[in-house]
Amino acid sequence: MNDFKLKILRNEKVGEGIYEMLLTRPNGIEPRGAQFIHIKLKNRAKILRRPFCICDCDEEGILICYAAVGEGTKELSEYAAGEEVEAALPLGNGWSADDFKRPVLLGGGMGSAVLPLVARLAKKAKPVAYLGYANAGKVVLTERMESLCPTVVATDDGSFGRKGYITDILAQDITSGKVKPDAIFCCGPEIVYKLLLKNPAFENIPIFVSLEKRMGCGVGACLVCTCGIKTKDGVKNLRVCADGPVFDLREVIL
Ligand SMILES: Cc1cc2nc3c(=O)[nH]c(=O)nc-3n(C[C@H](O)[C@H](O)[C@H](O)COP(=O)(O)OP(=O)(O)OC[C@H]3O[C@@H](n4cnc5c(N)ncnc54)[C@H](O)[C@@H]3O)c2cc1C
Ligand code: FES
Repeated sequence: MNDFKLKILRNEKVGEGIYEMLLTRPNGIEPRGAQFIHIKLKNRAKILRRPFCICDCDEEGILICYAAVGEGTKELSEYAAGEEVEAALPLGNGWSADDFKRPVLLGGGMGSAVLPLVARLAKKAKPVAYLGYANAGKVVLTERMESLCPTVVATDDGSFGRKGYITDILAQDITSGKVKPDAIFCCGPEIVYKLLLKNPAFENIPIFVSLEKRMGCGVGACLVCTCGIKTKDGVKNLRVCADGPVFDLREVIL
């Protein structure tokens, strides 16, 4: 495991309860899309590290975008620029857009945080991003995505971008022939995965999802993060941290 001390270059609020943290990038670290970082909190009472996808990585540093949902992420949001955090990275297996020609990168809420690096690393593929949020206050990362690939943004209540659930909007655009994805790469809440499986517009398209499970070790040793995956030998409990986090949606037991 690669464990590093990383300096916080900035840590700021970018949406309702949502923050971006830019960290120094260790020499020689070249994360793939959909890999994650496992951050140790300074308050030692919170023993378990917290996992975040590597949202972006460039000459500026390593970016994470996170929602302050509990004690650990609230603590993280209070760290100041100049402080250091200890973190292991890059963890998990990545996902490359370049295995396809016209993949759609679909983000639901904070799931959008996994997409910028995937788009940045696409060299041959021509990805298009679809990002859906509950409302305007939750909209993050859109300018970054727009600088990397064509991007469609929607909110459930229509307060920013197109109105409606992002799965419905993508389905409309597929049906009208506006986009012709040869794969969908998605990260979002479970409801998004269920809608992808239900809507006939996605029937013949391979769908890959980056799963989020509560994690212990982050490196495959503790089995805290297992998920049922259909394999040719039946359902197996695979580790999201070490065997994933990306799986074929149609093989995941939701
Ligand atoms: C591979 C991976 C990548 C992730 N990437 C991001 C990201 O880019 N941005 C982001 O905001 N969040 C991301 N998460 C979720 C993030 O790790 C959790 O929100 C965080 O660990 C919560 O810590 P906490 O101490 O604040 O919350 P806790 O007090 O531990 O819990 C608060 C709430 O968050 C839920 N939660 C806790 N841990 C997880 C988890 N691992 N996955 C899902 N829900 C959880 C709990 O069920 C509870 O509802 C990712 C999770 C994984 C496994
Ligand atoms: S978190 Fe320990 S095996 Fe995945």
